[in-house]
Amino acid sequence: MQSSLRNRSLLSLVNHTPAEIEYLINLSSDLKKAKGNGTEVPRLKGKTSTRTRAAFEGAADDQGANTTFFEPSTSQMGHKESIKDTARVLGSMYDAIEFRGFDQSTVEELAEYAGVPVFNGLTDQWHPTQMLCDLLTMKESSGKRLKDIKFAYLGDARFNTGNSLLMVGAKMGMDVRIGAPKKYWPDPELIKLCESFAKSSGGKITLTEDPVEAVKGVDFIHTDIWVSMGEPKEVWAERIKELLPYQVNKELMEASGNPDVKFMHCLPAYHNTETKVGKEVAEAHPELKNGIEVTEEVFESPASIVFEQAGNRMHTIKAVLVSSLT
Ligand code: NVA
Repeated sequence: MQSSLRNRSLLSLVNHTPAEIEYLINLSSDLKKAKGNGTEVPRLKGKTSTRTRAAFEGAADDQGANTTFFEPSTSQMGHKESIKDTARVLGSMYDAIEFRGFDQSTVEELAEYAGVPVFNGLTDQWHPTQMLCDLLTMKESSGKRLKDIKFAYLGDARFNTGNSLLMVGAKMGMDVRIGAPKKYWPDPELIKLCESFAKSSGGKITLTEDPVEAVKGVDFIHTDIWVSMGEPKEVWAERIKELLPYQVNKELMEASGNPDVKFMHCLPAYHNTETKVGKEVAEAHPELKNGIEVTEEVFESPASIVFEQAGNRMHTIKAVLVSSLT
């Protein structure tokens, strides 16, 4: 086991080395094979971790650990009890904590005071467990080394998924393109950091307002929802107006010039009118065709690997748990 990962929190991946990230991806792949072959060894027996969603609970369960899920309505964190106090209470009872919430500062405060590893399951700024999953999925699907993979992210790039894809792609020496209007680009400080990562890894980062330039020659096209957690529904009209040229549709997939280009999405996705929001937004905006950030046609096409990607969440989260807690 990689000793630098033992008892380590996972807050963003900014401070993990490329070798540590590669180690976690390889461990995920080994754990995936072991589960498939029925040879998985539960190494977390007797361990208890919290704040889990399906992938965390499944991963912990396969490895023999117990979990407790706290919903906002049943937790006092930040309301009647400070984050610092909650961290120390949970840290005294559990071997690890997974937090999925809003502010990055909350997960960082939890990690500072809990005394046990804390894993970021999603905040406004970062989505590190999704990144391990996306790297594994791109590696498996293309059969290429990470350094040989080119990918684009289109849409709202100043939130968790866009920030994280730019950062890990740069760190792992990949060719990363962000296609979005300038106002939706990641923070300039983050772009600077990614430029320095790309310089040392041999990666390449491109930020462009031209969606066609962004996708030219790529192996993968990623997107995410255009209105993220914590944002009011009033922003939909403006978002659609500004991001419609970046919708992942058949034309944009073809603009890659790569007949094998694949589509990826961290999910949930608005790709038809089968969800309440998808239906309401579609009714108000007929210009969308069928789907918002991605059309139904692309989402349901053979080029879409979103469910392989979703399945990999569990194996990569398991690798995080095993590498930190055993
Ligand atoms: N950007 C999205 C990610 C969902 C996994 C959100 O924050 O809601």
